[in-house]
Amino acid sequence: MRNDSHLPQALQGLRLPLVASPMFILSGPELVVAQCKAGIVGSFPALNAREAEGEPPLLDAWLTQIAEALDKHNQENPDQPAAPFAVNQIVHRSNSRLNRDLEICVKHKVPIWITSLGAREEVNEAAHSCGGIVLHDIINNRFAHKAIEKGADGLIAVAAGAGGHAGPQSPFALIREIREWFDGPLLLSGALATGEGLLAARAMGADLGYMGSAFIATREANAVPGYKDMIVSGGADDIVTSSLFTGVSGNYLRPSIEAAGLDPDNLPSADASSMNFGDGSSKPKAWKEIWGAGQGIGAVKQIAGAAELVDRIEAEYLAAGARMAAEFAR
Ligand SMILES: Cc1cc2nc3c(=O)[nH]c(=O)nc-3n(C[C@H](O)[C@H](O)[C@H](O)COP(=O)(O)O)c2cc1C
Repeated sequence: MRNDSHLPQALQGLRLPLVASPMFILSGPELVVAQCKAGIVGSFPALNAREAEGEPPLLDAWLTQIAEALDKHNQENPDQPAAPFAVNQIVHRSNSRLNRDLEICVKHKVPIWITSLGAREEVNEAAHSCGGIVLHDIINNRFAHKAIEKGADGLIAVAAGAGGHAGPQSPFALIREIREWFDGPLLLSGALATGEGLLAARAMGADLGYMGSAFIATREANAVPGYKDMIVSGGADDIVTSSLFTGVSGNYLRPSIEAAGLDPDNLPSADASSMNFGDGSSKPKAWKEIWGAGQGIGAVKQIAGAAELVDRIEAEYLAAGARMAAEFAR
């Protein structure tokens, strides 16, 4: 039995100690509901819910849709209740929707809030005001300290090889340094795409894994077929790190950079001051088809349903655990 009694209630009793990370454009209600029904925490960036001018907030509608779908599942499957869901807030100062989105999330009593790109006390207070917990994503120990000082409940260590805005540090170094002073909820991300990797994250001292790119090649992900195919055919050699597209260092699929007519081996760098989340993404429209992914995609061999992916990760996790248990029993 996994002992998770030290974790906040929202993170207890999951089928697997795993949170599916929020991904710009790709994660919406369909993917989140499938992840939660499969027993892991599903999540989406609030900025993915974008209504047309003059229409009511789509975030409000999405949160109602997710809550209703999960309630229905729980009534029909009392023995296998859905995991709770999380909403990601980009707290960067250029996100002009932040206050409105916070109010909507408080109204819906969102249970888990994932914050990225800057820790802000008022966001943590908003989450706590409705009984939610905040997990803040960081790429080094200094930012980890800052996040906890500002009132986050837990940390997501984004290590080298992660999709999106990856950190440069080894997961071994990062987890060890954080665990020297922090015994609260700690998640690890960065190229995690297997059950063996998840077990390794737990052995290192993380409470849960945090996995994104593997879910791009699921049927429920909002990605064009070419993107999903590129995840299936790609591996770590196909991942290029560049700051050009958003102003911060991120990981992208090499063939998508080539398809846009750029040379992946000679990309100029960009300044962090060019980051702007005013319209949802900090990536200019011209680079819409430059696709993000982490180094773990070599483990993704097919496009599958999110539930099938979770089944695969669970089988690997249990087999790896049994192998280790047998080794230590000797
Ligand atoms: C295409 C893509 C888009 C992402 N968008 C976001 C985002 O909007 N907000 C966020 O907090 N993280 C975002 N991430 C980062 C993930 O939250 C997470 O750190 C990452 O997926 C973990 O690494 P992995 O992809 O190797 O599993 C994104 C990642 C990818 C691959």
